[in-house]
Amino acid sequence: MREQTTGSIMTSWKEHYPSVFGRHALHLSHSLHTSELFTDAALARLLEKAERGDYHVNTRSAGPDGKLKRREGEFGDLSGAQLLEAARKGDIWINLRAPQKVDKAYGELLSEIYREFESRVPGLKTFRHLTTILISSPNVYVPYHADVPGQMLWQIRGRKRVWVYPGRPPFLPQAAIEKLVLGEMHETDMPYREWFDEFAQVYDLEPGWMLHWPLNDPHRVENFDSLNVSVTTEHYTSAIRNAYAVNYANGLLRAAGMKNLQRQTAGPGLWAKLALAAAVKFSGLRRKAEKPYTIDFRVDPDSPNGYRDITPYELKK
Ligand SMILES: [Fe+2]
Repeated sequence: MREQTTGSIMTSWKEHYPSVFGRHALHLSHSLHTSELFTDAALARLLEKAERGDYHVNTRSAGPDGKLKRREGEFGDLSGAQLLEAARKGDIWINLRAPQKVDKAYGELLSEIYREFESRVPGLKTFRHLTTILISSPNVYVPYHADVPGQMLWQIRGRKRVWVYPGRPPFLPQAAIEKLVLGEMHETDMPYREWFDEFAQVYDLEPGWMLHWPLNDPHRVENFDSLNVSVTTEHYTSAIRNAYAVNYANGLLRAAGMKNLQRQTAGPGLWAKLALAAAVKFSGLRRKAEKPYTIDFRVDPDSPNGYRDITPYELKK
């Protein structure tokens, strides 16, 4: 039999980590920042080759009501180096959602990451892996939110601060996580209060450090005054899939007027909810027409904020 190796992505793994993996936030060192896949040249190539449907570039501007609003933009015909330059100097962030479509080495790295965790954490079995590369300007922030799948955040370049909040009320009301999995989440469904910070765990992510927090824990992120390159990885396990189905079914039942909903993790109650969630999900009953994006700016390295306004147009998802 071929000898099993645990891999070399995690550089300071300790024997007791399996007992806390997924249960507590883990702030660990890694080696991804030294990979050839994340040099300026590699990132520039990815940016140039990304198809329109596989990237987002965003910024925020005050709307007519004075509130900051997230905006969607486009790369235009800029080179990868110019796009990086705009991110370095401006106020934008870029999500590359399918780097493996440009170069399968990114997909192989993603598989390797999870292979390594599975070999280090007995019993861990993950699937539906996804990765996104985030390139963001100095001082850009990500507001308070929660994610549906298992999440890891890997820092490649620059520094950011991450606040992780307990994944339970009042930080995460049960109804909010249900709306999140049903795709009905609005920002107001997960209200953030400044005093929540008193109960947050705070981590400064430097290149070569990553963070993995428990499922659905709310978090927010602020870049320090530097260009940031980060990678997110997402995964499911059967426990995460079951939690998803229970929240999905509970969301449907709550909308139908039921109260005191249990969050089963085993037994007939879980099976009934798995069946309900699957029946509704695959019936297409809840399928909504996806709204197109309005693209209203183009990246521009010669502009101080890294972009300029253009005549808005719609882009289908
Ligand atoms: Fe997130």
